[in-house]
Amino acid sequence: MSRFPETFLWGASSSAFQIEGGWDEDGKGMTVADYNSFKRSDRQADSKVASDFYHHWQEDIALMKELGMQIYRFSLSWARIIPDGDGEVNPKGVEFYHRVIDCLIENGIQPFVTLYHFDLPYALVEKYNGWEDRRCIDAFVKYAEVCFKEYGDQVKYWQVTNEQNLMIRVDERMNINEPDPWKADKIRAAMDYHMFLAHARATKLCHEIVKDGKIGPAVSSTCTYPLTNKPEDVWAAKMNDYMKTVYCLDMHYYGKYSGLYMRYLKERDIVPEMLEGDEEILKYGRPDYIAFNYYRTLCASYLPADEEHPAGMRVYRGNEVDFDQYGWCRDERNTNLQASEYGAQIDPMGLRIVLNDYWSRYHLPMIITENGLGMADTLTEDGKVHDPYRIDYIREHIRACGDAIEDGVELMGYSPWSFEDLLSSHQGFRKRYGFVYINREDMDLKDLARIKKDSYYWYQNVIKTNGEVLD
Ligand code: BG6
Repeated sequence: MSRFPETFLWGASSSAFQIEGGWDEDGKGMTVADYNSFKRSDRQADSKVASDFYHHWQEDIALMKELGMQIYRFSLSWARIIPDGDGEVNPKGVEFYHRVIDCLIENGIQPFVTLYHFDLPYALVEKYNGWEDRRCIDAFVKYAEVCFKEYGDQVKYWQVTNEQNLMIRVDERMNINEPDPWKADKIRAAMDYHMFLAHARATKLCHEIVKDGKIGPAVSSTCTYPLTNKPEDVWAAKMNDYMKTVYCLDMHYYGKYSGLYMRYLKERDIVPEMLEGDEEILKYGRPDYIAFNYYRTLCASYLPADEEHPAGMRVYRGNEVDFDQYGWCRDERNTNLQASEYGAQIDPMGLRIVLNDYWSRYHLPMIITENGLGMADTLTEDGKVHDPYRIDYIREHIRACGDAIEDGVELMGYSPWSFEDLLSSHQGFRKRYGFVYINREDMDLKDLARIKKDSYYWYQNVIKTNGEVLD
């Protein structure tokens, strides 16, 4: 007997700018993700062709079917549907996703659709500096409405944003170019708040428009261990999770910032402008489920806030921390874990911890929408890709899911990253995650052939046996 319920959804994931290519075809507008990838295009792949899903979608969906996928988690490109972000709808863009969604359904695969995966239409940056301005909320809601009306008869699972909690801390993704750290954080806090409002409005709209629709966020999960059992280190580890992830889930669930997060916003003097009516909007945006992405765990030691800063906070940049953040914690290496060649500390047990933690906090059904191992795979002379390391990684993480289900966690499904090789955020096509190899290099498009890796056949068997093969 399998540990996974009969209804368990097995899938795989991707996102628009990382696979589609056709970046300006059929009227698509430029996005922030395109813009940032073009900055690096002298050195590595950009979003112009990516995995060329735009011209290979039928072939790719046939491979998804053969793999046995029950869901496909992917994102729509806002700028393909509304090229300038808030103006005219582009019929060709709308049509493209109709064809993809029809084809998925004909092949027995449920579409699991994200509305916004790091790719804000660039026109909105030019007009409003994107999320800094409340008009971006209206633009997003208009886009969401178009999607719910166009695809809502067929798409029942929706995700508003991918990793708002991580995206907000990556200046490049938000187009935060402010050199002064305090001003940058002030802009960040406003953007974050506006995205929460957009999230809540889109959630409410989905419930109104899509019959039996389910909608939720996909957060970047964090699980931080204290370096020692010193209370300060424990506090630092907890705060890292709290300030990076839990505050975001709390906002989605309760519709307001928790005391701790408000304290931070106040002390840093960056409380965003909150208008009358906002509270009401946020209250009605409660998600139906929580999706999260999980790759690794972190380790932290206490780092006192800088006394010199008037708000008692301190901004660290550079290698001390994994990305911009304020005070309290220093990123440490966990000597009990092995790290991937790209530095991710591999930790299946951490996934069980996160699943139990979020379940006990919110008691909402959950789904894992990303989990995987980025490696520099090679196509060998036999025309194959042997990736035993990926099989090991995914096997152990699926086992952790099984353990969590036995712990009583309501887990709806598992959709690892990624279905096919795609444009990694920082390492182009050097770092690959897919079950399907895309025959291209960063600076050489080759023939873009699709080649099933060893992990593809292995995962196919996992799905076929509903995970029983792992027991
Ligand atoms: C997640 C993102 O944070 O991590 C994906 O949702 C991304 O878009 C993935 O590709 C892996 O990160 P990277 O930097 O290796 O591509």
